[in-house]
This record gives sequence, C-alpha cells and structure tokens, in this order.
Amino acid sequence: MSTPAQVPATPLIYNDWYPAMRSRGLRGKKLRTTMLLGIPMVLGRRTDGRLFAMRDNCPHRGIPLSCGWFDGHELTCRYHGWAFEPASGQCQRIPSLTSHETLDPSKIYATAFPCEERDGYAWVYVPEPGAGRPRGDGLPPVPEAPKFGPKYRSAHLTADLPCNVDHGIIGLMDPAHGPFVHQAWWWRKRASIHEKEKRFEPIPEGFRMSAHAPSGNSAPYKLLGVYGEPITTTIDFVLPNRRYESIRCGAKWFSSLTTVTPTVTNACRIDVYAAWNVFYSVPLVTPIAKFFGKRFVRQDQVTMIQQAEGLKHDPSLMLIDDADRPAKWYFALKQARLEGRTDRHPMSGPVTLHWRS
Ligand code: FES
Ligand SMILES: [Fe+2]
Repeated sequence: MSTPAQVPATPLIYNDWYPAMRSRGLRGKKLRTTMLLGIPMVLGRRTDGRLFAMRDNCPHRGIPLSCGWFDGHELTCRYHGWAFEPASGQCQRIPSLTSHETLDPSKIYATAFPCEERDGYAWVYVPEPGAGRPRGDGLPPVPEAPKFGPKYRSAHLTADLPCNVDHGIIGLMDPAHGPFVHQAWWWRKRASIHEKEKRFEPIPEGFRMSAHAPSGNSAPYKLLGVYGEPITTTIDFVLPNRRYESIRCGAKWFSSLTTVTPTVTNACRIDVYAAWNVFYSVPLVTPIAKFFGKRFVRQDQVTMIQQAEGLKHDPSLMLIDDADRPAKWYFALKQARLEGRTDRHPMSGPVTLHWRS
C-alpha cells in the first residue's frame, strides 16, 4: 500500500534562472505548459523568435491562459477574450469595454517571467513571490555550459525525480554512490573501489573540485586517454542547482551543465546538457553517448524513486564526513542565500577530502 508523501517542504531559492523545458518544442503557435517552483507556467515563442513564459492563469478569473489562443503575437484568453502581449504580460484589449468606461487595459498585466533560450532550454527567471515584475536589466546572467570551441556536438537528458530538490542536488554531488548505483561493465566494477583524495575550493555561492586527472578506473575517461595528453577535470557546484563539469585534453573537450529544478514542492527534474568535440568526426558517437548517458541518469532516477519511498515517513537522516561534506556545504550555502547573506561561505579556503569510491 502506498501512502501519500508527508515529507516537510524545503524552502526554494527564488530570484534566479531555472530551465523550464526544452525550447525545441516551442514553435509555431503552440503553447506548452509546465510546473516550475510550484508555479503553473505557459510558454511559447513569438513570431519574432523570442520565447515567453507566463503564469498559466488569466489575471481576470484565473482560467489557464494555455486554454486560449496564441496567434504568434498575442495570447487571447478563452473566457472573456482579454488579449495579452505574452513577453511583457501587458493587456492589449478587453473586448467588453465600451467608450463609457475609463479602465485602461494597458495598465493590467498578466504575470510574465523573463525567459531566455540557452543550450536548447527555455530558462525562466523566477522572482520571489509577491516581488512584482522583475526588470530585465539587473538580472544575473542566464546560465550556460561553457564551450571551448565553435564546433561541437551536444545532447540532452532529462528525468523526473520524486523527491524534493535538496535530495536531487545532494544526489548530484554525492561521490560515494557511484560504485553501487552505477555499476556496469562499461563504467566500473564495485571491486574497483579505492581511496580518493580530492581538493575543493570555495567559489562564489558554490565550490569547485579542482582540476585533476580523473579516476583511471572509469571507462569514459580511459577512452579520452587515447589522445595521450594530460586530462583535467573541473567540477563546479553553484547555487541554486547547477553542476558544471568540464574535461579538457589538449584541444579536445567535454562540457556539461546538470541542473536539478524544483517543479512542485516534493518533486524535481534533473536535466543534463552536454557538449563535446571529442570524437567529433566519428559517426554514431552521439547516439552511443546518449544511450550510455540515459542509462546513467536512469540509474540515479531509479535509486531516487526508491529513496522517495523511504522518505515518505520522514525518517531521520545523516550526513557523514568526508563523503557528505559537499552536501553539508550545499545546505550551508543555501541557508546563507535564504538569509540574504551571500557573503557567508562555509569554506574558509581550499580543503582536501578523502573517501573511497
Ligand atoms: S478569465 Fe480571462 S478574460 Fe476573463
Ligand atoms: Fe549518480
């Protein structure tokens, strides 16, 4: 018998960019809906190519705007026909108004969010509830995976996780689950567990696992090694939810941005975007990489579905040193951000952590 989740909600980080959905489905006059930080959203693309994201409620009576009509320029509510410019949310017309009325429709706004396209995602800036319309200028830059050259291939992976965003994120930075969750002949065997030593350093609102030669016991890295040049890997975690990884070997590179985005209170979605110029000219590398990447993400997903089952009755949990130290940093960084103290950092300088994986 399954019981509804009673897990206490975790606070969410507002005033930042989150990937709402893939942008390739946003074309023509299609409207697409999703949930982002508990907010119902409707997204689309104007005829001029610009993406928009609105709260999926008409400001008049709350009916989803996605039930209405979009002609490439205006979104018209299906209930009383109020028409909105979707990027600003500004009302253009209220059909029921007569010349006797003084109400100025242009003073009415539906809730619209800044929305930008990067790496094949529609990124949406979600302000603090009740903060009003965010101004376009003072916003932080839209997140993007670094690219180290103009020619590259790329792939996207996604998986829904039935847990709150904190569990998704600490799963993302958890070094000790690899040999158990991701055991596979092509990756590594459980028997290959050995002691590791990694150097971390503080960066603004996050931490970096400093560049190093990655573990020699994993097949993808062995493959990269055929180029015979030193390999460096850098992994950054940055609030609210981003893990950047770059692997460089001479002129060859692999870069990824993984995010864990809260959809509703107790669910999140992991999105992986990867770009690379490794094996650029070898056919079939993209489908093969996607196949293995999917299996990898699926293994995390299956584990988190099982974990969510265990979390339903709010068990007490542990964070241990050193393997869970990055998770402790995450919670401390998040707390600092929620208190508006982004100058406060849990690390006073570089730290070396040890674990076996
Ligand atoms: S509910 Fe949308 S126009 Fe009335
Ligand atoms: Fe994993």
